[in-house]
Amino acid sequence: MKILANDGLAKSGVTALEEAGFEVELNNVPQEELVDYINNNKVVVLLVRSATKVRTDIIDNCPSLKIIGRGGVGMDNIDVEYAREKGLHVINTPAASSHSVAELVFAHLFGMARFLHQANREMPLEGDSKFKTLKKSFAKGVELRGKTLGIIGFGRIGQATAKIGLGLGMKVVAFDPFIEAATLELEFYDHQAVFFEINTISKEEVLKQADFLSLHVPAQKEYVISSKELELMKDGAFIANAARGGVVDEVALVKALESGKISKAALDVFEKEPTPEIQLLMNPDLSLTPHIGAATGEAQDRIGTELASQIIDILK
Ligand SMILES: NC(=O)c1ccc[n+]([C@@H]2O[C@H](COP(=O)([O-])OP(=O)(O)OC[C@H]3O[C@@H](n4cnc5c(N)ncnc54)[C@H](O)[C@@H]3O)[C@@H](O)[C@H]2O)c1
Repeated sequence: MKILANDGLAKSGVTALEEAGFEVELNNVPQEELVDYINNNKVVVLLVRSATKVRTDIIDNCPSLKIIGRGGVGMDNIDVEYAREKGLHVINTPAASSHSVAELVFAHLFGMARFLHQANREMPLEGDSKFKTLKKSFAKGVELRGKTLGIIGFGRIGQATAKIGLGLGMKVVAFDPFIEAATLELEFYDHQAVFFEINTISKEEVLKQADFLSLHVPAQKEYVISSKELELMKDGAFIANAARGGVVDEVALVKALESGKISKAALDVFEKEPTPEIQLLMNPDLSLTPHIGAATGEAQDRIGTELASQIIDILK
């Protein structure tokens, strides 16, 4: 049976599937050629990440297909309900990348707090001729310890992010319309553990209290952070969006950065992917990454093995 992993698949997943007798293709077939490719090769399982779209054209016209698998969380690139109505299995790996995304958030927060995103752009250009000027420009860093981390969306990634914040000595406040409270277990390398009970509070309170705000909601129809929400935030706060493009109103964010209302912001996801607005790419107050939240070896290995075991359970 053939499996097409159109956006790639970690070696751990390929090996597990091959050992179970599947043939795994790692070709990246262009979107418009996918229907023909699946039919000509009698592909049974189509695996994607976020790039390949699985819409009705594929679901309706590829009778060999039995499983659509998403390596990762958000399934907004797949017509999930429609596929299930047509009898297809749709699977994903919701927990595999939580820690990787949470660590990326802190990479951005630490970087912004100490101007690393700017220093890394400017040191190669002027580090030898204007060392002292750069030293002065990047002198007003801040610590994260003792600050308040606000989290909007307190699911898997929100809670993983909260744990890192707690470990650093931050206060954590969170909003989630569907979660009233969560017990977070901070595990240490020597098996000691500390438990924190966090009761969620209103969105307005989180916005008012946060020195650093991180967003962890699924894709939505409306902005979660627009000018109204930005207005409620502390002057000089920091924001990180590693959730989905369209969760933050980018135009309102740029205005808030220009006015100094928001000190700096980090974006891993964009309203226009894969061609983000140039005003974002050129903005010195933005710390930018190209949607790499789940892109660690560890997360991809977990994604690979989780997908493989689900496929084997369904088809063998
Ligand atoms: N940057 C990346 O590469 C990357 C990788 C993985 C996931 N993600 C994104 O992270 C999102 C969160 O993932 P997760 O595993 O934590 O999902 P999850 O389902 O465990 O948690 C999402 C939480 O958001 C809450 N929520 C929904 N709407 C909300 C709103 N308007 N305001 C506040 N809370 C709201 C839900 O109740 C839920 O508890 C994913 O949907 C995906 O879009 C990004």
